[in-house]
Amino acid sequence: MTDANAAKRAAAFAAADLVQDGTTIGFGTGSTFAFVLERLHQRMQKGLRVRGVATSQATTDLCGKLGIPVLALDDVQALDLAIDGADEIAPQKHMIKGGGGAHLRERLVAITARELVVIVDETKLVPVLGKSFLLPVEVVPFGWKHTARRVEGTGCSTTVRERGGKTFVTDNGNLVLDCRYPAGIPDPAALQRTLDALPGVVDHGLFVGMAGRIVVGNPSGQARILP
Ligand code: A5P
Repeated sequence: MTDANAAKRAAAFAAADLVQDGTTIGFGTGSTFAFVLERLHQRMQKGLRVRGVATSQATTDLCGKLGIPVLALDDVQALDLAIDGADEIAPQKHMIKGGGGAHLRERLVAITARELVVIVDETKLVPVLGKSFLLPVEVVPFGWKHTARRVEGTGCSTTVRERGGKTFVTDNGNLVLDCRYPAGIPDPAALQRTLDALPGVVDHGLFVGMAGRIVVGNPSGQARILP
């Protein structure tokens, strides 16, 4: 296993061990979160009962392979916990998410949970958001070039996301603009307010004031929890 995967796995296993018997939780998306399912699967074989609401089709598929029950968000009143990865975390626990394009569902699941536990390796901890990772902004396909120009008005350049030579389409049927802010994003709350008000923008990867505990893994396989 690579150092990066060892660190992700350490964070994910520590978070999965926070899950209590009989609870319903939010299942995140991404390579770090996949290790949470591995650990939950191990614990289920020893008797743990857990169900979850998945934030993406990819996670739903993975749960299916592991025999982990998945519910629709509308079938639950509240979630005991949500566990998810992040692309960058800055001081005050502001985050960029959406590297996998699942940030809209991730937000909807996270706000339904009593706590969002975030799992990362140390490389995701940054002093200022957006200096190296591009901010994902999900936009409706109708008139997306106009929306892209409005987004660029917030001080960034945009690239429509592609995967495998094709335009990337989210689970919600939308496009993702990856946005480069040359000086990073020193005031995520202000940018969030601006993006939230732009017609055509469905959601973005700025998660401000949403993170609960943050579990940070290191390549030696240890995890620490930031309160
Ligand atoms: C998915 O859209 C994202 O928000 C992921 O949670 C985030 O990109 C972290 O992914 P990795 O764990 O694969 O780095």
